[in-house]
Amino acid sequence: MSTRRPPSPADRVRERLRAVAGDRCADAMPRGYQRLGRVLVLRLPSLLRPYRELIGRAWQQELGVTTVLAVRGPVEGELRTPQLDLLAGTETETEVVEHGCRWRFDAARILFARGNRTERARIGSLVRPGEEVLDLFAGIGYFTVPAARAGAHVVAVEKNPVSIRYLTENLARNGIADRVTVRAGDNRVVPLPVRSVDRVLLGYLPDALPWVPRALSAVRSTGGVLHVHRVVDARDAVPVAERSVAEAVGAADGVLLAPPAGREVKPYGPGRTHVVVDVRARPPPAG
Ligand SMILES: C[S@@+](CC[C@H](N)C(=O)[O-])C[C@H]1O[C@@H](n2cnc3c(N)ncnc32)[C@H](O)[C@@H]1O
Repeated sequence: MSTRRPPSPADRVRERLRAVAGDRCADAMPRGYQRLGRVLVLRLPSLLRPYRELIGRAWQQELGVTTVLAVRGPVEGELRTPQLDLLAGTETETEVVEHGCRWRFDAARILFARGNRTERARIGSLVRPGEEVLDLFAGIGYFTVPAARAGAHVVAVEKNPVSIRYLTENLARNGIADRVTVRAGDNRVVPLPVRSVDRVLLGYLPDALPWVPRALSAVRSTGGVLHVHRVVDARDAVPVAERSVAEAVGAADGVLLAPPAGREVKPYGPGRTHVVVDVRARPPPAG
């Protein structure tokens, strides 16, 4: 009995491309894609550039998405703005739903990393009702939404006006607007809670390590947990990231209350890994 699987949408797109552009192009068509609600984001090799419209329309039809975008270049600057080209469709606003959380955003202007899904869920499961949480890089509410849905009060800091607009909308969409205080501006200068929070989210890549001193001064004098995101070499990624966070806490005169615990979030380009390190620490003595 034959066990051949039916062709996947990627197989069907490949065959449509083969019919027009030949085997070499068809074989260069990547299998992977990122689906963000009704928007699809692709990475295409330059060989396929002349066929971008055909590929966009093919994916649109095979997957039933409204819009297809292709990555043009690396994520830009401190606002983490994606560089994308429109291949098919016009509507780039979309909604992603995960474990009961909803995020609405413009996929052409705002980064949403599907690979951080487990981490978003983990934050929702770690937070206890009544916790005070500081999100230093709130974006559209990637971590603020699961934390507030779990019952925390969150101070959410964000400096990109486009993200702030969606963050505010997402708080209302998730029914948590009364549990989140949005502070618009750069987290280096906006007033932050002082010695009063239980948890600080430092979800910024490539490296949130420089913000450890500021995060430490926000946690209670009895201690709190920092979640520090970093991109590091894939070799020994977790122990290297753990050590660097322990050193940053020490350099800021903080006190470690438990050894840092790291975990891999996702691969981040060739030979690099996105790691998050949880560390329980208390701030330097007041004085
Ligand atoms: C793109 S998000 C991180 C991605 C997210 N963790 C995910 O799951 O996809 C980082 C956010 O931090 C914001 N940001 C960067 N530097 C900042 C700063 N100094 N002050 C306030 N917000 C900042 C960016 O505008 C962006 O919205």
